[in-house]
Amino acid sequence: MQFDFDTPLPLRGKHTSKYDNIARNFGFDDPDAIAMWVADMDFKAAPAILDAMRAEIDWGYCGYFGNTRPVDEAVARWLKDRHGYEIEPSSVRYTHGVISGYGDIIATYSKPGDGIIVFSPVYHAFYRQVEAMGRIVVESPLVIEDGRFTMDLDGLAASLKGHEKIVTLCSPHNPGGRIWTTEELRALVAFCVTHDLILISDEIHMDLTFPGATFVPTLVAAPEHADRIAVLTAASKAFNVAGAETGIAIYPDAAMRKRMSQTILDRESSPNRYGMVMIKAAYTGGHDWMDATQAYLAENFRIFADRMEAIPGVSVMQMDATYLSWVDFSGLGMDDSELLRRSVRDAKVIPSPGAQFGGGGSGHMRYNVALPRATMLKAIERLEAAFNDVQ
Ligand SMILES: Cc1ncc(COP(=O)(O)O)c(C=O)c1O
Repeated sequence: MQFDFDTPLPLRGKHTSKYDNIARNFGFDDPDAIAMWVADMDFKAAPAILDAMRAEIDWGYCGYFGNTRPVDEAVARWLKDRHGYEIEPSSVRYTHGVISGYGDIIATYSKPGDGIIVFSPVYHAFYRQVEAMGRIVVESPLVIEDGRFTMDLDGLAASLKGHEKIVTLCSPHNPGGRIWTTEELRALVAFCVTHDLILISDEIHMDLTFPGATFVPTLVAAPEHADRIAVLTAASKAFNVAGAETGIAIYPDAAMRKRMSQTILDRESSPNRYGMVMIKAAYTGGHDWMDATQAYLAENFRIFADRMEAIPGVSVMQMDATYLSWVDFSGLGMDDSELLRRSVRDAKVIPSPGAQFGGGGSGHMRYNVALPRATMLKAIERLEAAFNDVQ
């Protein structure tokens, strides 16, 4: 293999959230614990990114960033080449992370007390952001059909109260790794038109598709409704540069772009220099690394899912994308604290507890499989042992 995903990087005591925040979050730590919770990868970033960062550091200037045009063009080229998604470079804006961009859109298109719809279970920071801004989270429970999540738009329509202003879509979905089809996306956009809602499509996991799977951008599925679609994405998950906290927002509609640009201006917010350097390098020279990463992650997931499924009462949701495996332990009849105790304390494998992801999360744990294969195999063996009394 051209890139090395197998050699473990030292991650403890290096200011990594996934290792150095275990004790704070789980009230437990062990030098031998394996972190499978925080959504970043244990791998070095792509050589193209590291080379660009070295050049930047050697140059030595660390001031404010100006002229985003070359980065906008790199974003537009990447979207076209990888996803057949044509945008004007001038429709791109940058945020301090995707969740901060999510907050900017909520601030612009809703007021305190308004409802923000999420499809649960879903990425936990949506809940915190909406609640912190004094808006109300409206959960639309995903339904499991043929082992995969599907949206229940009829159920959602029947439950609307009239205060809802925004729909949040996670595409591909975290957790569960579902790529929504063109038909599903069009149905959701039609729903937003009928009920006069803005759709925020969080596409941060867009590049983490498994070989053979094709991601459908919401703006490709329903370009005629761009006036109510805001897209958030990033190089952060797929290229493992989340520490740069730089998100990409795409606003093809001129009126929406104007409103969002004003919000950004009001915040006196300019892009993180190193985030911009990394985005440009990733989207210019990162194609081969991305292909190799996708293949490695798909194989890790296949191994993880096969072995975990072999534990009686445990089932693993099949994914099209992401490295975040959604594991259903509800067949074991244990409560959430016992599930977490076995994973964290007995196996010393740190998951994300399912209840964090809102409705439908209880009885589940989410495991990040973006780690060296040998480390993942060690984690699987320990999980098998921690649940061996159910065998
Ligand atoms: C769907 C989704 N959106 C946003 C984020 C976080 O993005 P950021 O760190 O850029 O705010 C994550 C991180 O796991 C995520 O899964």
